[in-house]
Amino acid sequence: MDCANNFFSLVHGHVFPPVIDAVRDAMTKGTAFGMPTESEILLAEALAARNPRMEQTRFCNSGTEAVLAAVKAARGITARERIAKFEGCYHGAYDWIEVSLDPTPAAWSDKSGNPASVRNSAGTPESVLRETVVLPYDDPQRCADILQREGPSLAAVVLDPHAARAGMVPVSKETAAVVQDACRRDGILLICDEVISFRLSYEGASPLFDLEPDLVTTAKIIGGGLPIGAVSGPSDRMSVFNHANGKPKVSMGGTFSANPLSMAAGLESLSHYSRPAIERLNGFGCKLRNRVREGFSAAGIEASLTGMGSLFRLHLGSTNITGYRTAYAAPEKAELIRRIHLAILDEGILLTPNCSGALSTPMTEAEVSLLADKLIAVVAKELADTSALPG
Ligand SMILES: Cc1ncc(COP(=O)(O)O)c(C=O)c1O
Repeated sequence: MDCANNFFSLVHGHVFPPVIDAVRDAMTKGTAFGMPTESEILLAEALAARNPRMEQTRFCNSGTEAVLAAVKAARGITARERIAKFEGCYHGAYDWIEVSLDPTPAAWSDKSGNPASVRNSAGTPESVLRETVVLPYDDPQRCADILQREGPSLAAVVLDPHAARAGMVPVSKETAAVVQDACRRDGILLICDEVISFRLSYEGASPLFDLEPDLVTTAKIIGGGLPIGAVSGPSDRMSVFNHANGKPKVSMGGTFSANPLSMAAGLESLSHYSRPAIERLNGFGCKLRNRVREGFSAAGIEASLTGMGSLFRLHLGSTNITGYRTAYAAPEKAELIRRIHLAILDEGILLTPNCSGALSTPMTEAEVSLLADKLIAVVAKELADTSALPG
């Protein structure tokens, strides 16, 4: 049973017949053209119909590209260069946005206790650290103070309101409000990265947090299992890409962008991700989390399952998970998570390597119960095999 679903992109599971038919049909008409096709208009309209703030959309081939284009758009619109992002949050493999993706405790604070800008890898240029302000996901007052100071120099704040890597936990309403207010006050563009979290509701994630983003980035489920990325926003924001009158302020294009196969798969997939389908799947997610919580508690297991809607992630220990630092697993705990990942795989269930996962629409009560039972049993066994829970 695949609960990783190609890193949350297959919301209808593998080989979903309507998507296969749609792609087969699209393939007979041509796989790629150096021109727009009707298919991209249909998918853009489907997104706009779900969330009016996604009035216009431009497509690309990955979430990374979408975030990259949104950041460039924000720079083009504001004539500023720096951006802010939240500590421990993943938004793709783009230099600025990778800053402080996975800092270790020894490096994560600067002298004043604020999140430091930490290189992600040897491939991160030093210069991007000065151009990337890092915000705490679960400390609204500190977040407000940093934005008060840095706001006027920022082109964009990039926020995933339900960040997977930072714990698979929702951002608090307080932090969301701090970000929204700072963006309005200082003319910063708010980019909501919903590459994973778009699945949380019919309209996506930002409306659940009263956020009104200038740009929304999506990918994964909007491609029905084929490569995709998208930047959406109100027409006055999206006009930064408009090349109807010559060179746009910011250009966005690519050889396979908006290819008809991804468009057809995405359109078909979204049409089956209806309000009732989402309600059913999110209900299963609640059941899963409740059952696992009760099972852990009955067995005296110090672990938790975070997440909203159909998304979930396992954490070991008794800490209340609120963001990157509380979700951080020191090496011994990370090793235990790795063992649990492999042990549950032996039981026939695939999670992502950090033991997060997603439910998909073909699942029924039976699969949800099975998943809950296996999670409880495997965690109990692996913890029993470990003398003391590290960290
Ligand atoms: C929130 C978020 N943004 C962006 C990305 C990058 O998407 P892609 O892997 O399609 O480049 C991911 C990938 O997992 C993601 O989770």
